[in-house]
Order: sequence, then structure tokens, then C-alpha cells
Amino acid sequence: MPSKVVVGVQWGDEGKGKVIDILASRSDVVVRSQGGNNAGHTVENDGGVYKLRLIPSGILYPQVECFIGCGTVIDPKSLLEEIREMQARGISCENLRIDTRAHMVMPWHLQLDALSEDARGEGDIGTTRRGIGPCYMDKAERTGLRFYDLITPGELAKKAPLPGKLKNDIITKVYGKPALDVDAIIAEYAQIGEELRKYGADVSVLTYNAYREGKEILFEGAQGTLLDLDVGTYPFVTSSNPISGGVCTGTGIGPTMIDQVIGVSKAYTTRVGKGPFPTELFDGIGSEIREKGHEYGTNTGRPRRVGWFDAVILRHAVRVNGLTCLAVNKLDTLSGFDTLKICTAYKRKDGSLIKEFPPTFEELEECTAVLEDMSGFGEDISGCKNFADLPEACKRYIARLEEVCGCPIRMVGVGPARSQNLER
Ligand code: GDP
Ligand code: IMO
Ligand code: MG
Repeated sequence: MPSKVVVGVQWGDEGKGKVIDILASRSDVVVRSQGGNNAGHTVENDGGVYKLRLIPSGILYPQVECFIGCGTVIDPKSLLEEIREMQARGISCENLRIDTRAHMVMPWHLQLDALSEDARGEGDIGTTRRGIGPCYMDKAERTGLRFYDLITPGELAKKAPLPGKLKNDIITKVYGKPALDVDAIIAEYAQIGEELRKYGADVSVLTYNAYREGKEILFEGAQGTLLDLDVGTYPFVTSSNPISGGVCTGTGIGPTMIDQVIGVSKAYTTRVGKGPFPTELFDGIGSEIREKGHEYGTNTGRPRRVGWFDAVILRHAVRVNGLTCLAVNKLDTLSGFDTLKICTAYKRKDGSLIKEFPPTFEELEECTAVLEDMSGFGEDISGCKNFADLPEACKRYIARLEEVCGCPIRMVGVGPARSQNLER
């Protein structure tokens, strides 16, 4: 059976949660391989609306095994809270497994994320302040604490005092803020570790065995291609690799175990946080799309910046992820506009055109979008059940997106519910 990777192809929040939920119903295993609770994945089903942060979106199906891989960063307090929220709604987390290599987001990471953002002032990244960057820094520096340390009695008491002291030095001596109580943190986290112990596992082995047994595996991407630490809009990115390649290192599997790569996009573009955004709309159309599409962060509630669909970004995403197809969400939000615009290329200050996404933020910053007009549609399409039922203008819009992106569109979203997804 084919294994599938689902990745965001813009700046996150493309509706990955909805697509994963639909595909999870036909899968045996769902794996998260990077990021942490900076993600917010919305799933809407008969039970209501679920906003998942770290737990894979497959958790809503009791028969699906859910794995959190070695490339993720885990805030133990937030994870325990998320598990309890799920249990309170009747969702069992018995099928959850967490790789013991995954790194722990500790209270000092949260504090340092906020302090460094504040210190950057106007030049801040606009992080979610969930401690993600500082945690990955410690992982790369080889001073991090891992899930093994959290759940193994005595390990935190042995390993946490030194990083705790060094971080306190930074907090007090660099930022002039009060020190954290490291002993109290160790005691509290050891207790959380007790509760999370039963989830510890080797996700690389579990995933490999599941694949060899012919099980259907779904890899759930978090964030999006342009938030990738290497091929995104650095420095306005997250600290992990959300592109399809990140699935291999973040799960502990080889690339030959990936059969399909599904890119998830919106029918327009959004971004939370700072950084260049060539198709951004600053006028009434932008605010209308924001209101109609409820474009406010799932996790942080921040208003999302909104712009037209950008095919330059999509072609970049097709290449860096090796996409085999696309799912395009929120076509319904574009109803009611006379004209829809698609960005097909960028123009530099000297007037020259470029078709490839620029590698650096400095080059991107001097680009303006070259826009093509398409006729809009006025119909409410949220009740459409088949692609064939869509108005002609919608079909033309989707056909043009396929053409300019160079990738087939296999799913079109016309609303947030499971049933509002048109498969082709
Ligand atoms: P994710 O982070 O990629 O999983 O996306 P989020 O959940 O953060 O944000 C996507 C938002 O769009 C959520 O509120 C979804 O319920 C909603 N959504 C997803 N697909 C559609 C769609 O086709 N139409 C509409 N109107 N909303 C959608
Ligand atoms: P999902 O999985 C949208 C953004 C932040 C900020 C940058 C760095 O729901 O699509 P971080 O806290 O990761 O250090 O912040 O990345 N960001 C997201 N934007 N969706 C997400 O996740 C995001 N996760 C991080 O807004 O610009
Ligand atoms: Mg989100």
C-alpha cells in the first residue's frame, strides 16, 4: 500500500488538518515528524471542531496508530494537556507512541523565545513563543533533554541541572530577568514524565515494521514549505524542516518508503508572523478574504496576512517537496469577487522578470507580483458535492492553477467539514 506525505506548500495553515483527517480514515498509521505545538491543525467532524497541536490528526479514529517521531520537539506540559483535552471529549490516546529521541521544550526555552523576540523589537520573527527555536538550538548544540530523559526515573535530576543553570545565567545576566527555579521544574517535569511514560517507543522501528507489513502510512506535515529552515524565507521561518525530506530524518526512515507527496495549499495565500509576502493585499479585498475565511491563527488567534494565489511559491514547493499532487482548500472563500488574481512571476526593481522563487529574503523583498486576472464567481459553492457541479469560472480557476503550478490538483476544499472536499 502506498505511503503518503502531506505537506503545507505555503506559510502554514493551508488546511492540512482537514486533508489528513480525510486521508487518515483510509490509513493505519499517522506520523508527525517535525515541529511542536507551534502547529494548530483543525479537524471538523460530527463530534465538533478539534484543534490539534502536537498529537497527530489521525487520533480521532480509534483504529489508527499515531506516532510522534524523533524530529519533533515536545512541550511535555502542553502535550499532557492536549491528551487530557482529547480524553475529556471521549477520544482515547491509547494508540499514541512517542519516540524517546524527541527533544523536550523546557520552561527556559519558552522564556528565551519570548525574551529574544522582545529583544529583536521591530525586527522580530513573530514566532509563536512556544520555545520551538531555543529547543532546536539545544538539540543542534547537543545539550538538549529528550523524551527518554523525561520518562526515565532519575534522568532529569541527573541531566537538567546544568542546562538549567546555563539558561538561568542567560536569563539573569543577559536579559536581567529573575532566574527560574530549576529544582522545582525538575520535580514537576519528573511527575509529568511518569504520566507520559507509557507512550515512549522507537517510532523508527514501529513505522518501518508497519510499512513492511503492508500498512497504509500517512506522514502529517506541520508548518509549511516557506517556513522550512533551509528552503523557506529565512530568517522568517521555523526551526525545523517541514518539507517532505524532513519526514525521513524526523521519523527515522529512508526516502524509498515514501510513495506519494501531497501538497496542501489555499486557493489564495496567507501568512502569520513577519517577513516578505509579494502578493499581500492591503486593501478591502484582503480584509474581506480575512473575514470570510476566518483567517485568524488556530493556535495564537493572530490575524493572518492575506494575498492572492502565488504560483511562484507553488512551483518552488513542487520542486523542493517532489509533489505528486495538490489539494487546494478554501475555494469557497473566494466566492463573491468579480476578479480573482494569480501571481505567475515576480518583477525585480530593474524591471526584469523571474519565474523561480528567489533563494534569499533580500532578493524576495525587492520583488513585486506579476498578476493575471481571472473572472470570479458569485455562487455559494459550499454545498457542492462533486467537482463537476462547480461553476465554470471555478473550474477554469482550478485548471489555470494546475497549469501555472505544473502539478495536478486532486482535491478541492469548499468548506471546513470532512464532507466539503471534492476529490478528482
Ligand atoms: P493547518 O494548520 O494546515 O491544519 O490549517 P489550520 O487548521 O490552522 O487552518 C485552516 C482553517 O481553514 C481551519 O479553520 C479549517 O477548518 C479551515 N478550512 C480547511 N479547509 C477549508 C475549506 O475548504 N473551506 C473553508 N471555508 N475552510 C476550510
Ligand atoms: P501549522 O502546522 C502558520 C510561524 C510563526 C512564525 C514562524 C516561526 O498550523 O501550519 P516558531 O514558533 O515556529 O518559531 O515561529 O513560523 N509558524 C506557523 N505559521 N502555521 C503554523 O503551523 C506555524 N508554525 C510556526 O508564525 O512566523
Ligand atoms: Mg494551523
